Amino acid sequence: MLTILVTGGAGYIGSHTCLQLLEKDYEVVVLDNLANSTLEALRRVQTLTNKSLTFIQGDIRNPQLLDQIFTQYSIDAVIHFAGLKAVGESQLKPLEYFDNNISGSIALFNAMKKANVFNLVFSSSATVYGELHESPLNEMMCTGTTTNNYGYTKLIVEQLLEKLSQSDPRWSIALLRYFNPVGAHPSGLIGENPRGIPNNLMPYVTQVAIGAREKLSIFGQDYETIDGTGVRDYIHVMDLANAHLCALQNRINRSGCRAWNIGTGSGASVLQVIKTFKDVNGVDVKYEFAPRRDGDIAICYADNQRAISELGWIPQYGLEEMLRDSWNWQKQNPNGFNEG
Ligand code: NAD
Ligand code: WQD
Repeated sequence: MLTILVTGGAGYIGSHTCLQLLEKDYEVVVLDNLANSTLEALRRVQTLTNKSLTFIQGDIRNPQLLDQIFTQYSIDAVIHFAGLKAVGESQLKPLEYFDNNISGSIALFNAMKKANVFNLVFSSSATVYGELHESPLNEMMCTGTTTNNYGYTKLIVEQLLEKLSQSDPRWSIALLRYFNPVGAHPSGLIGENPRGIPNNLMPYVTQVAIGAREKLSIFGQDYETIDGTGVRDYIHVMDLANAHLCALQNRINRSGCRAWNIGTGSGASVLQVIKTFKDVNGVDVKYEFAPRRDGDIAICYADNQRAISELGWIPQYGLEEMLRDSWNWQKQNPNGFNEG
């Protein structure tokens, strides 16, 4: 069976992907510095699957450690999640983002090349489309106008990988452009564990629902959308995790670098999310309207046909299941992994 190095595997999307890899009998080696995660997530992944993985606590910016890992384990492919992801923070600390997300990625690609490992799945983001295009966004649209430093790091790494694959046909690279990941494993044992005040809508909604925060501020009520609030393509983290397995199965050892949108193909507004949350879970989410947030766009959703036809990936979960599972996770773990 193939051995997969998962950088950032203790994080939100990484832990769900590790779970699915173990379920499919892959050997899994995780490298994570636990900057935004805890080992408890991977303990639970092992409990849920009744399988074990190898965990290495360390940083992707450590070339000696990377060489050691590639020497010690016979890695067939890398799924690269490790990085920082907070948009607001990236505006305040650009160098940390450049260092972690760009320099860290380069260190990883160097070590891969040294070890003759050329299969890579990279966590990219719909943010690389910037604000130029109208949704549905498709992979033929040009990128290059990101609105924040975080998005810029994703764009740069995509471009580096494109050039790398042009320089050496041994590279086989999948760029997965995630839309808005939400939800949790249906067991409620693993899920998103934001530190401090959540930046993203869904953890904020569940924290208001559980009483940890007073009310949600809805950023903008005068967008040109169905009800004036922002529309996004929310994608269940289980479907998103599965896209990585599809990419491994369908693309491994195929020469080149190619991008796929990973979204459901339809959008929901903030008010629709709140209403559906109440319908599904029976819990009210108190909110108030607030000014628009800098850098936000009105509507963003995917054209996901390329992933469906080329990766054989089909999203299984709708908005109701996403909201059910986000709430189930939050209820069972009111303080995240710490005291859940
Ligand atoms: P996360 O913060 O939960 O996971 C990232 C993991 O990487 C964490 O466990 C963190 O400890 C680890 N990490 C960070 N820097 C590291 C370093 N230098 N060396 C080793 N480990 C390091 O985030 P996530 O939501 O699971 O996101 C995973 C990837 O997907 C990220 O690259 C993110 O940018 C990308 N992405 C996320 C979203 C989203 O909304 N969650 C959307 C699009 C893309
Ligand atoms: C969703 C909608 C907000 C919080 C971000 C990154 C993107 C990607 C995913 C990594 C928007 C509204 C939100 C709140 C609100 N990450 N909202 N009140 O901004 O689409 O994407 O996460 O790659 O790069 O930019 O996601 O969850 O922050 O917002 O009204 O407290 O909810 O305005 O319409 P976003 P989000």
